[in-house]
Amino acid sequence: MLYSEKVMDHFTHPRNVGALENADGVGEVGNAKCGDIMKMYLKIKDGTIEDVKFETFGCGSAIASSSMATELIKGKPLSEALTLSNQAVAEALDGLPAYKMHCSVLAEQAIKAAVKDYYDKNNIPYDHEQFAATACCHEE
Ligand code: FES
Repeated sequence: MLYSEKVMDHFTHPRNVGALENADGVGEVGNAKCGDIMKMYLKIKDGTIEDVKFETFGCGSAIASSSMATELIKGKPLSEALTLSNQAVAEALDGLPAYKMHCSVLAEQAIKAAVKDYYDKNNIPYDHEQFAATACCHEE
């Protein structure tokens, strides 16, 4: 089978779907090649992600990746959420086919973009290098 059970589970029953009203940070990224778009909403309190929701207009792997990513960062400090890599998301899903790895990249980037949005809105200084990758695709 091409996809792991976990991928199928998160694709058919995605967790934390939707928009968060009054989100503290919102990040939207897209992949220019496939045209898929992912939007991540964060509710942040005392440096911790209290709640997270996502909207993904994309393929099954992108939906499964965003669903898994929200589970991995919920209740975690921002510093930890920022270290979440797309490989970690894919591993938590018991792997993705190689040609679908870019879908998990969207999840990593959407989280980073949402945290950056939160930092920007609250004038919190940060290392711009850390967010260099999020400038990809969507803003081109
Ligand atoms: Fe584009 Fe999966 S094919 S995100």
